[in-house]
Amino acid sequence: MKFFVDTADVSEIRELAAAGLIDGVTTNPSLILKANRPMKEVIAEICDIVDGPVSAEVGATEYDEIMREGRILAKIAENVAVKVPLTLDGLKACRTFVDEGTMVNVTLCFSAPQALLAAKAGATFVSPFVGRLDDAGVDGMELIQDIRTIFDNYPDFSTEILAASIRSVNHVKDAAKAGADVATIPPSTLKSLVKHPLTDKGLDLFRADWAKTGQRIE
Ligand code: E4P
Repeated sequence: MKFFVDTADVSEIRELAAAGLIDGVTTNPSLILKANRPMKEVIAEICDIVDGPVSAEVGATEYDEIMREGRILAKIAENVAVKVPLTLDGLKACRTFVDEGTMVNVTLCFSAPQALLAAKAGATFVSPFVGRLDDAGVDGMELIQDIRTIFDNYPDFSTEILAASIRSVNHVKDAAKAGADVATIPPSTLKSLVKHPLTDKGLDLFRADWAKTGQRIE
């Protein structure tokens, strides 16, 4: 399973990339707003740090304008994946981008039939939003399971399932169990994956006993 980090905060991305923990990055308009920097500049900087796919989302909703914006974003670096909404115009743009050799992340997926359409449009990634479905009282992880089952029925589909709107360590574990190809995870959640109270407790004991030995490894 690949881990993408879901942020436009370059310092967080640098830290996680240096630890070898990330395979790509996703951004969206809300994350660009939070970063408070020009989008093209941020995406270029992220693409310099990370070799894997970096999702950059269009603001447009109509085909011609999605294509215009997406082509500008795709020119920033070879590893840009243009992110388009799961609408008819977005899917049409997806097919054109893929035919042009540009990676595409189809975002805002909330149902299995929508994911099926993204796969038929040749999307590189489809992003089902687990957390936002949970917020709406629907089991978001069930959607990941359904899409996995459907995609496995059709080995010709090459679209990767990118579990998005991940909010917790359990979301990451359950997305992996459900067979998501990728999880895009906020930096704080990604860092919390390493934590376990018994790891801390065990480390304290080992450190104390090691100090008592009076030894030094050299
Ligand atoms: C990723 O591509 C999505 O934009 C992101 O995961 C959305 O997460 P949120 O629902 O926490 O905003």
